[in-house]
Amino acid sequence: MSRLIVTGGASGIGLATVRGMLDRGDRVGAIDLNPASLAALRATFADAVADGRLATAQADVSDEPRMERAIGGFADAFGGIDGIVNNAAIGGAIGPLVDTRVEDWDATFAVVTRGVFIGVKHAARLLIAQGTGGSIVNIGSIAGLIADAGPQAYSVAKAAVIHMSRVFGAELAPHGIAVNTVNPGLIETPINPTSARRTRDDFARAQPWPEAGRPEHVARAVLFLTDPATRFITAETVTVDGGIAGVGHRLGTLMGTNSLQHGVAGMNYGTTGRAADIHTRRASAP
Ligand SMILES: NC(=O)c1ccc[n+]([C@@H]2O[C@H](COP(=O)([O-])OP(=O)(O)OC[C@H]3O[C@@H](n4cnc5c(N)ncnc54)[C@H](O)[C@@H]3O)[C@@H](O)[C@H]2O)c1
Repeated sequence: MSRLIVTGGASGIGLATVRGMLDRGDRVGAIDLNPASLAALRATFADAVADGRLATAQADVSDEPRMERAIGGFADAFGGIDGIVNNAAIGGAIGPLVDTRVEDWDATFAVVTRGVFIGVKHAARLLIAQGTGGSIVNIGSIAGLIADAGPQAYSVAKAAVIHMSRVFGAELAPHGIAVNTVNPGLIETPINPTSARRTRDDFARAQPWPEAGRPEHVARAVLFLTDPATRFITAETVTVDGGIAGVGHRLGTLMGTNSLQHGVAGMNYGTTGRAADIHTRRASAP
């Protein structure tokens, strides 16, 4: 049984993570800005609320005093904490660079980057004081790995989140506190301002894996990294995206150099002078 905090815990990936933790027997403190979503969360898990396994707090992750109170309140209620999942985010500023207002850029970073920093900072303070070690997971995005996978400010802020986990992972390792990033790919949640159908079409074009990304796919990785037995994994990044980032922009398919399209197999010896041994694949080959 772990005592874990999840920001943005009332929707999408955060909600699936809260559910998975409760199923595992953890005690969970869910933080969210949206009071209606928090009320729905409490209604969904009314039994867990009643027996003290789920507590909630309405807070903006970019508001340091409020976050310090919320995290401290969970620690008081649970007799300490074992970690935090910094998951809350917004899409933020959209549109061309030349039209982006600096206040929208800053507001995006306030939630996506500063919110994660504040969550790590105040969880780490408690974990260091407890001397127990802990698990911190920050939710990044494939947009932080590759361009053209999200709005500009969001993408740059998510790249900062990925590096934050490495930098703070290095600093907190001597305290036995693991810090990792989980990068979702295209996941069907309310954050994507498209209909589920449109998103499914997008998956088919962008993603090699044939199944749509669901919040539970990401939650599985978060659950793994918040298991105390996996803390030796730290300052690391796990991408949960059905292969999008690994495959990139399918250059071979776009340029016609992907041999899978041409029904051939064999060996290309390059410019060594040895002739290529390339043949048409047998119809029976898989
Ligand atoms: N869904 C995707 O395809 C996808 C892809 C890559 C990364 N992500 C990341 O996954 C995480 C979860 O996204 P999701 O898709 O579940 O989104 P979601 O919109 O379903 O849930 C996000 C939750 O965060 C809360 N939140 C937003 N701003 C907040 C703030 N300032 N303070 C406190 N709570 C706040 C919202 O109220 C909401 O409940 C985010 O970090 C997001 O950037 C999602």
